[in-house]
Amino acid sequence: MTTIAVKDAWKAGTQITEADYEAWYARSVSDPDGFWREHGARLDWIKPYTMVKNTSFEPGAVSIRWFEDGTLNLSANCLDRHLETRGDQTAIIWEGDDPKDARHITYRELHADVCRMANVLKGMGVEKGDRVSIYLPMIPEAAVTMLACARLGAIHSVVFGGFSPDALGGRMEDSSSKVLVTADEGLRAGRKVPLKANADKALGIAAKAGHTVEKVLVVRRTGAEVAMEGGRDLWWHEERDKVSADCPPAEMSAEDPLFILYTSGSTGKPKGVLHTTGGYLVWASMTHQYVFDYRPGEVFWCTADVGWVTGHSYTVYGPLANGATTLMFEGVPNYPDAGRMWQVVDKHQVNIFYTAPTAIRALMGAGDEFVTRSSRRSIRLLGSVGEPINPEAWNWYYTVVGEERCAIVDTWWQTETGGILISPLPGAVALKPGSATKPFFGVRPELVDAEGKVLEGAADGNLCIADSWPGQMRTVYGDHERFEQTYFSTYPGKYFTGDGARRDADGYWWITGRVDDVINVSGHRMGTAEVESALVSHPKVSEAAVVGYPHDVKGQGIYCYVTLMEGVTPSDELKKELVAHVRNEIGPIASPDKIQWAPGLPKTRSGKIMRRILRKIAEDEFGALGDTSTLADPGVVDDLIENRENRK
Ligand code: WT7
Repeated sequence: MTTIAVKDAWKAGTQITEADYEAWYARSVSDPDGFWREHGARLDWIKPYTMVKNTSFEPGAVSIRWFEDGTLNLSANCLDRHLETRGDQTAIIWEGDDPKDARHITYRELHADVCRMANVLKGMGVEKGDRVSIYLPMIPEAAVTMLACARLGAIHSVVFGGFSPDALGGRMEDSSSKVLVTADEGLRAGRKVPLKANADKALGIAAKAGHTVEKVLVVRRTGAEVAMEGGRDLWWHEERDKVSADCPPAEMSAEDPLFILYTSGSTGKPKGVLHTTGGYLVWASMTHQYVFDYRPGEVFWCTADVGWVTGHSYTVYGPLANGATTLMFEGVPNYPDAGRMWQVVDKHQVNIFYTAPTAIRALMGAGDEFVTRSSRRSIRLLGSVGEPINPEAWNWYYTVVGEERCAIVDTWWQTETGGILISPLPGAVALKPGSATKPFFGVRPELVDAEGKVLEGAADGNLCIADSWPGQMRTVYGDHERFEQTYFSTYPGKYFTGDGARRDADGYWWITGRVDDVINVSGHRMGTAEVESALVSHPKVSEAAVVGYPHDVKGQGIYCYVTLMEGVTPSDELKKELVAHVRNEIGPIASPDKIQWAPGLPKTRSGKIMRRILRKIAEDEFGALGDTSTLADPGVVDDLIENRENRK
């Protein structure tokens, strides 16, 4: 195993040295109250906090509160406080899907637009605590709407533009959103995405489930003609001109909710992960500064869509809180061709580039030529997030993209954690390809075995976090019991991440992937139960079991075992129909890669599906099925092996 030494990993100097990291970390875990009392002051508080950490992971009494008697406004921290020092600096560089489209928006312009948006939303009846759903493409108005909600103290719920009407409808209903902000259409790789039409369907779905969204604000993106419902739908470009560019920021308590973001778990419907204001922004801004060694004046590009938490924390909130120039990209990595990312890097002189392993693998497959024809001299740091990065992709990223000049920060975190928890700090921690390395300040990772025994030293186990950090989610929206049940009941007294991990002899952390029924497809998180429920909602399907299998580009592919209703004839057309059905129910990101007809599923005598066996067959590793003695009907397995889709 190569270790890339601290001095080589970061040649241009750093804010934090190896000794600083050790000292800060030690203090952050021995005296969290003192450490965060000091670092919480990085924000502008209206009323400074006197209380810092007030948290409990105790079963039945899980409660997470940070800086709770302080007040602040998040949008003022991201905008107003920069006006004097960098009002004319670019806050957002927007790069459109079409390489000819780009915009620069200064802090002063962004501030004015956010105020206008806040005033428009106010005019539509949005008040402190109300929920606003956002279903937008990657355009500046997405960030503007998020910040406008924060300015008013409204809670935003961003729904990824690739999700189906069903998914959007369910989320609007669960969050009982008062207003929806959407666009006429989105644009991806030259293709149009009918956002308003999807939104109309979603509004109908929410209404049928008993929740009426009162108003809809529509941003004009492509200029397509769309249906507008009188009394309900308004155009942003018309309303914008009717309101003032001044809107005082609401004074919010540190623990007032900031946003809800839905994410998949191993069971049931997606959960509304709730983040609050003060601790979240301390975390997003501090990790952005130190993990990316962000320095004033630099251009930071996180490629994530604002529909995911990465887009919240590292496209919008972290960078803007730090007065950075953040790049928002509407397009995709391979349009017009596989050189697009590096062309954008050169065009906007990007200094820090943060993306997902799935994109790296896809671009690696397209050939080095697309990379080497660009200069990339502006880049000094590379980041990775979303799934374990395999050594081959790591090395390609390091040598071909970064020309061995740039450190790679492999950042492990989750929607639930608000920001990065395990990652190298460039220059302070030596790199090992494939390892997320060391915990950030205040993070106490632990490994436990299946019985909950804490493992010491070099070991493999389930990854837990022993104590709270400021960016942690506070609850599942509307269901605190589910929050406790999901994260704090498996290993009482600890936050259980759902990931497996290994700690090596140097104390480095290696994330090995989910240990629950969550799969990671192209960095998108999906519950196998969600795909199963989409499949069984088809009239010809009687039962379905879904597992992940290793996929060269996507990380994991979606493998579905489907049992048809009596009398239905299996066919390739029906497979296509089922794929289309799942895309329709959830969205294109959930498209099944493989469907295998399963006359029966391997079950225990009590009727539980033995997924372990299904995973092995999907991986074509059926020689190692393990113990099958509890199977009700062992013959089922032979048929599945015989007809497996993934033959090597
Ligand atoms: C899951 C969280 C948080 C950013 C995007 C994903 C996996 C995330 C890494 C990494 C190995 C990673 C984990 C985690 N994951 N980053 N650097 N190395 N695995 O957020 O959708 O909430 O998914 O993504 O399995 O639990 P998310």
